[in-house]
Amino acid sequence: MTSTVINVANLSKTFDTGTQALRNVSIQIPEGQMVALIGLSGSGKSTLMRHLNGLTSPTAGDVWVLDTHINTASKKQLREVRRHIGFIFQQFGLVGRITALENVLSGALGSLTGPRFGVASYPLKFRKQALEHLDRVGMADYAFQRADTLSGGQMQRVAIARSLMQQPSVMLADEPVASLDPESSAQVMEIMLRVATEENLTVLVTLHQVELALGWAERIIGLRDGEVVLDDAPKKIGKKKVMEVYQRVATDDVDVEEITQESIRALEAMKDAH
Ligand SMILES: Nc1ncnc2c1ncn2[C@@H]1O[C@H](COP(=O)(O)OP(=O)(O)OP(=O)(O)O)[C@@H](O)[C@H]1O
Ligand SMILES: [Mg+2]
Repeated sequence: MTSTVINVANLSKTFDTGTQALRNVSIQIPEGQMVALIGLSGSGKSTLMRHLNGLTSPTAGDVWVLDTHINTASKKQLREVRRHIGFIFQQFGLVGRITALENVLSGALGSLTGPRFGVASYPLKFRKQALEHLDRVGMADYAFQRADTLSGGQMQRVAIARSLMQQPSVMLADEPVASLDPESSAQVMEIMLRVATEENLTVLVTLHQVELALGWAERIIGLRDGEVVLDDAPKKIGKKKVMEVYQRVATDDVDVEEITQESIRALEAMKDAH
C-alpha cells in the first residue's frame, strides 16, 4: 500500500500585508510520485512549498508531511522531519571554493557530529556514497572540480547529489531549472524523475515551463491566485486545462496545444536518447 507523504488540507494563507496567497488548497501526494506545481508568478507556488517545511505557518488548514503535523510541530519535530526532506532551489547554494565532491559530502553533515574540513575528514563510507551519487547525476568526472567553475546545469546536478546524501524521502524543488538552458533543464528533470523512481522519493517541483511539466511529471497541479485549478496526469491535460491555469495570458494568440505537443515530441526524443 502506498502511503500519503504530503497531505495539505484546506490550507489558506493571508499575509499580514493582506495578500491572500493560498485559498483552501487541498493536495494529497502519495509516496514516490513526481508532481509538478505550475502557475503564474505570484500564484502561490513558493508559499505552498514554504508551508511544507514549516517556514510559513497557515492562516487556516492543516499540513502533514511524513505524518508530522507541520502546523503544530515543535522545533525538534521540525528538525527531525526536515532531515527527510531534500531542498533544491533555483540558486544552487553550493560552496564555490570547494570541490563538487566536498559539496556533496556536506549533505551528510546532519548525520555527523562536529565540523569537517576537506574530503579526507569524512568517513570513507560517506566518500563512497558521495561518489556514487555524483555518478548517478552524471557528474563523477567532475568530482574534484571547484564548484564555482561548473556550469549552471552541472551545479544543479551536484546540488541534487548533495541532497541525496541525506537519504531523503521527499524532495522539494522550487524552480530548479529556472536559470538553465532547455537541454540542461531536461537533464535535471530526467535525473529527478529517475531518482524519484529508483528511491521511491516523493518529488514536488515548481516550474514555469509547461512543456517540462507535461514531459516529465507524473502529475501536474496548477495554481491560479492561490487556488488549485488543475490536478491531473499530463496525458489528460490539453489546451483548455493549461489555459485555465494561465487564464490571465489567454489573450495571447499563442497556440498552447501546438507548443506543448511539439515539446512533448522533443522531450520524448530526448528521453529515448538517454
Ligand atoms: N512574506 C510575504 N509577505 C507578504 N506577501 C507575500 C510574502 N510571501 C509571498 N507573498 C505574496 O504571496 C503571493 C504568492 O507568492 P509566491 O512567492 O508564493 O508566488 P510564486 O507562485 O512562487 O511566484 P513566482 O513564480 O514568481 O516564484 C504573491 O502575491 C506574493 O507577493
Ligand atoms: Mg516562487
